[in-house]
Amino acid sequence: MTGQTAPAAPQAGVSVDVPAKINPHLGVGDPRADGYHALSTVYQAISLHDTVTAQPRDEPGIAITISGEGAGELPTDEGNLAHKAAKLVALYAGIEPAVKLHLNKRIPVAGGLAGGSADAAGALIACARLWDVEIGDAELHRLAAGLGSDVPFCLKGGTAIGTGRGEELTPVRAKGSWHWVVATTDTQISTPECYKEVDRLREDGIGRYSADIAPIVAAFEGGADADSLARLLVNDMEAAAVSLRPQLASLMHGGLEEGALAAHVSGSGPTVLFLATDVKHAVALARRIRMRGGARSVHLAHGPVSGPAA
Ligand code: C5P
Repeated sequence: MTGQTAPAAPQAGVSVDVPAKINPHLGVGDPRADGYHALSTVYQAISLHDTVTAQPRDEPGIAITISGEGAGELPTDEGNLAHKAAKLVALYAGIEPAVKLHLNKRIPVAGGLAGGSADAAGALIACARLWDVEIGDAELHRLAAGLGSDVPFCLKGGTAIGTGRGEELTPVRAKGSWHWVVATTDTQISTPECYKEVDRLREDGIGRYSADIAPIVAAFEGGADADSLARLLVNDMEAAAVSLRPQLASLMHGGLEEGALAAHVSGSGPTVLFLATDVKHAVALARRIRMRGGARSVHLAHGPVSGPAA
């Protein structure tokens, strides 16, 4: 079938909402032979999301437009993970891609919230639907894992344990909903940069692998209150993120002073998550953190939420 143009879709387009992820537990092990770090993490999808829309295009090729976070700054060519995702679906189907992809972004770029991975997951699903391509779960997972370690989780949403380099998932049945204030900063941290800093700090004897996820998994499954969850949050990348962007320390400290139950760097940072008791507390906390300054933007989010393919 290679060389054929993608069949015209009956509908005008397909839109998929894909949530951001957080890692309430992020245990980072030693680098493996392939350069990736072994992970023992718990992912959770939160209510902040990007929308990926795929529409048929008259001429062959993948044309990307972007609005919202990162518009004008992010690549719209092969350098964009969503572009690679669309190409993979076309390759899998044996068709020539002809698609307009629009990314409406609310997830901060390079913020530790898997925004690029979310867009890739959205592009996989939207293109498969637009072109009417049946992709089985195992194959979709394989395509997603080839795009990036966080992409498989972005397809699933909810709460899940991540092992391997983060791509091996075991769902967790979380009972409840937890409220966060998401504070972004005006800096970015690239994921590999943060992993390298973790390695460097470890050479100096700073930090260790928090492999045990059992306590936080039990807390989610048991519907723990926010106070209990606050004591269980772990991020082995936090010291590295703060070392790379020292201004994070004052942002975190400020949120705690304003009454957050915990301050937690999201993934490789620099976004900081503040845990609130409930939605009312989150609204008040967000207002106080905004007034204090120091954050580029402050959002409310809750999790877990369902993923795009759920
Ligand atoms: O998997 P992904 O392409 O998102 O990873 C980006 C980079 O982050 C990798 O090239 C690697 O340097 C680093 N990484 C890592 N260990 C992981 C995941 C990512 O070292 N488990």
